[in-house]
Amino acid sequence: MTRVAVCPGSFDPITYGHLDIIERTSKVFDKVYISVLKNSSKKGLFMPQERVDMIEKVTSHLDNVEVKQFDGLLVDFCNEVGAKAIVRGLRAVSDFEYEMQLTSMNRKLDSDIETIYMMTNNNYSFISSSIVKEVAKYGGKIEDVVPPHVAALLQEKFINR
Ligand code: PNS
Repeated sequence: MTRVAVCPGSFDPITYGHLDIIERTSKVFDKVYISVLKNSSKKGLFMPQERVDMIEKVTSHLDNVEVKQFDGLLVDFCNEVGAKAIVRGLRAVSDFEYEMQLTSMNRKLDSDIETIYMMTNNNYSFISSSIVKEVAKYGGKIEDVVPPHVAALLQEKFINR
């Protein structure tokens, strides 16, 4: 049996925190789909295809990882690719409430799909895409929190604004 997992998120943009969870998930599952989804409470900086392209670039060393954009419910994506597990990272207690809502709703929508949480590596537990964007916007150093390719794209975005 092939064990398939989905790492979902808005990835606007992908950070070293996301990458840590994706790399660890790829060691535990046979196949991992990174699903670039819409979070209706967030306004995006990068277009969905730009996010897919940058994730593909920074995960190219992971043979069992595939990136897909999906316009719909996470559980529908899981069923489309045959995944029975959703893997999310937990950074701190502050993430818990939102993650619990997400998990409970997804379970209501499809009780066959489990959500599994991995504690984010301590080195990355303070990183969020929103904070990275804010620092990049004001010209701060982001090389320690996102891969070089992503840092370059962020800098380019803000220079062209
Ligand atoms: O990286 P994020 O923004 O915390 O990820 C949240 C995301 C994109 C996984 C969530 O908003 C989502 O699943 N969106 C797709 C629509 C959906 O399935 N919503 C119902 C679950 S509450």
